[in-house]
Amino acid sequence: MPVNREPATAISISGLGHQFNGQQVLNDIELRIPAGTTLALLGPSGCGKSTLLKLLAGLLQPSQGEIHFGARLMAGGRTCVPPEQRDIGMVFQDYALWPHMSVAQNVDFPLHMRGVGQAERRIRVKAALARVGLSDFAGRKPSELSGGQQQRVALARAIVAEPRVLLFDEPLSNLDRDLRESLCRDMAQLLGQLGTTAVYVTHDRAEAHLLARHIAFMSQGHIVDLTTV
Ligand SMILES: Nc1ncnc2c1ncn2[C@@H]1O[C@H](COP(=O)(O)OP(=O)(O)OP(=O)(O)O)[C@@H](O)[C@H]1O
Ligand SMILES: [Mg+2]
Repeated sequence: MPVNREPATAISISGLGHQFNGQQVLNDIELRIPAGTTLALLGPSGCGKSTLLKLLAGLLQPSQGEIHFGARLMAGGRTCVPPEQRDIGMVFQDYALWPHMSVAQNVDFPLHMRGVGQAERRIRVKAALARVGLSDFAGRKPSELSGGQQQRVALARAIVAEPRVLLFDEPLSNLDRDLRESLCRDMAQLLGQLGTTAVYVTHDRAEAHLLARHIAFMSQGHIVDLTTV
């Protein structure tokens, strides 16, 4: 897998809506995220942030509207490209690491799934762990790490295959405030270096401002404001 094989991809969302059991929880979402930039989704609990992220990931199929990554239709009409074919990396609030695998094996997993050769995998895992400051932890199990370290492993796993799009769902909200702030700064720096297009869900305005060029404010399934900083 060559490095930086394509320019970063813009995300276009038009007329996007979603219903759960007949109840409309997302309405007429219109967004365009320029290539290589980060958009933060900010809003109160239940407003639809995670639902929008899951639609981008392909974990849910939209009830209305379309999602494009670059020129490619990811979801809309009868099309719904499955998550493993979207070239995305995800980081969740609860880390979602494999407990029986070492740190290195967790980070290697996306490369293994993509059929990357062993020699290249070793180089990439090492580089990803170095990027998140965990070079000395490759052989540990997730249970032998702090919460902040576990989230760094999840971050390394999300970036190791150099996906076109990174999706974050409140990745720092389980951590205490000081740690949150320092990890947030590290992530902002990393996102700047990678130049990947990213969507970052958070409750925290300060986090959104540190990390994102564009901030979409959501309320009750709608985007009510969109700012670029
Ligand atoms: N699988 C589901 N089945 C039915 N309703 C759901 C499902 N998932 C989410 N919802 C509902 O959809 C709405 C939006 O939920 P969502 O998880 O997107 O909110 P959120 O903005 O991410 O909230 P939080 O900040 O608490 O994570 C809520 O009313 C929620 O109850
Ligand atoms: Mg959520």
